[in-house]
Amino acid sequence: MTTSTADKVKNVFPRAGEVPAKARIEPLEQKDYLLGGRLKTWKGPAQKVFSPVSTAGPGGPERVYLGSYPKLTEREALAALDAAVRAYDDGKGPWPTASVETRIAAVENFVRRMKEKRALTVKLLMWEIGKSAEDSEKEFDRTVEYIVDTVNALKDLDRASSRLSIDQGVIAQIKRAPLGTVLCMGPYNYPLNETFTTLIPALIMGNTVVFKPPKYGVLLHRPLLEAFRDSFPEGVVNTIYGEGRKIIGPLMRSGKVNVLAFIGSSRVADVLKQQHPKPHRLRCVLGLDAKNAGIVLPSADIGLAVKECLSGALSYNGQRCTALKMLFVHRSVLNEFLEKLVTEVDGLKIGMPWEPGVKITPLPEDEKVPYMAEVIADAVKHGARVINEGGGLTNGNFVYPAVVYPAAPAMRLWREEQFGPVVPVAPFDDVSEPLAYVVDSDFGQQVSVFGSDPDAIAPLVDTLVNQVCRVNVNSQCQRGPDALPFTGRKDSAEGTLSVSDALRAFSIRTLVAAKESGANKDLLRGIMRGRKSKFLSTDFIL
Ligand code: G3H
Repeated sequence: MTTSTADKVKNVFPRAGEVPAKARIEPLEQKDYLLGGRLKTWKGPAQKVFSPVSTAGPGGPERVYLGSYPKLTEREALAALDAAVRAYDDGKGPWPTASVETRIAAVENFVRRMKEKRALTVKLLMWEIGKSAEDSEKEFDRTVEYIVDTVNALKDLDRASSRLSIDQGVIAQIKRAPLGTVLCMGPYNYPLNETFTTLIPALIMGNTVVFKPPKYGVLLHRPLLEAFRDSFPEGVVNTIYGEGRKIIGPLMRSGKVNVLAFIGSSRVADVLKQQHPKPHRLRCVLGLDAKNAGIVLPSADIGLAVKECLSGALSYNGQRCTALKMLFVHRSVLNEFLEKLVTEVDGLKIGMPWEPGVKITPLPEDEKVPYMAEVIADAVKHGARVINEGGGLTNGNFVYPAVVYPAAPAMRLWREEQFGPVVPVAPFDDVSEPLAYVVDSDFGQQVSVFGSDPDAIAPLVDTLVNQVCRVNVNSQCQRGPDALPFTGRKDSAEGTLSVSDALRAFSIRTLVAAKESGANKDLLRGIMRGRKSKFLSTDFIL
């Protein structure tokens, strides 16, 4: 007898004693935060942390308690910012004036220490945001790799600028210099990776940093605080915790933040930017909302398209900015596509993040559960159906994926970024229909196109590259590999990130120039041969 989806959902949570020993975790009561090179003890109120994972209790699912972290106030947040500003010291601090080799050595030391904390960090990641153990490990390892690649990219960048140029009688050395103090905030879906893809490039370019972990995925940063403290000069890295609304506004309003590195919603990014009193002094590196479409053409290999759309729409429960959030399928292949998609969704393993092969896990945001129900109900009201068995069933913070068909413009799902396990599918007769959707969208991150006919794909690619920033042919949307540029148009992003682009995003080109006179040549020679300047130098990193 096969178990129905309803039964699987009803029994999705284990009883307390059933959590395997290897996956169990002790609560972590974090009392400290990193300020001015010291771990300061916080004696004020604490924010309790509960996992999206529950255990089955007599009265229903009970969220597992994971510990607590300091609920800092505006005062501590401003003190952290002041520590970072002092460490920058108008560009005179030991960190912004350190040689590239010194900064690389500090980051390499940090990553060595970070690797020692892999097991605990991964476990906290898994419990705090409900990401599968396998994907939590991948997130950690990808982050380490990103840091190593960043070091190598900086070496390349520095080698390329280790020479002087002479143009129209002017001798110049051009290098990249830091921007000042950076406020880094990552998202809950990649709390480690996406925070570090801005934090590390910001640091290695000589900036000083205040960083606030996302609302979910805070404790996992705790094991790394000593490594930050010991690897960088005092005040270069400072951490703050608490309610974003209360502690971030004052930082922006102070006018002392030079770079806002934020991955989250465009609504919040707009508020933060407007709080800065001198907007032109603020550089923004933003990764924001997206509503990436998948377009399945008549010539598509349907098996492949379904596989990619499934993973694109439902990896980590659809909680990825790059997720496929609207699927357009040509009517000629619609039945085959829907049938295969529903079969694949039925085959997804649901369960707890430590279970091998698990694909669908509980959601960290409480409000996401009713939101999923609302957008599904709204779609049904406008003529759609949930076409897979049990789609949209919930238990505590768990939502079973729903395939919603046919999606139509009147529905909220047509425009709103669901960021969860709901897959809207719309039929089309002419490719102008999905194209119009992409053009009208407020977002412009990526798109996926499935097909095998060069005469159909080529014009589509040529149109779409001017609407979004990555056109994926026969594959889902994604950020990686991290060497590729990651950005978006419209409300989807500001600035470009990739291993090498991030180094540029957190720095500015600065040059020293002198007329090519004999006296100036002697002067420059004297500075460089005597190694009197860190900037004016032809040293080549080997
Ligand atoms: O949430 C947005 C992430 O940047 C997506 O990254 O495509 O590697 O999952 P990913």
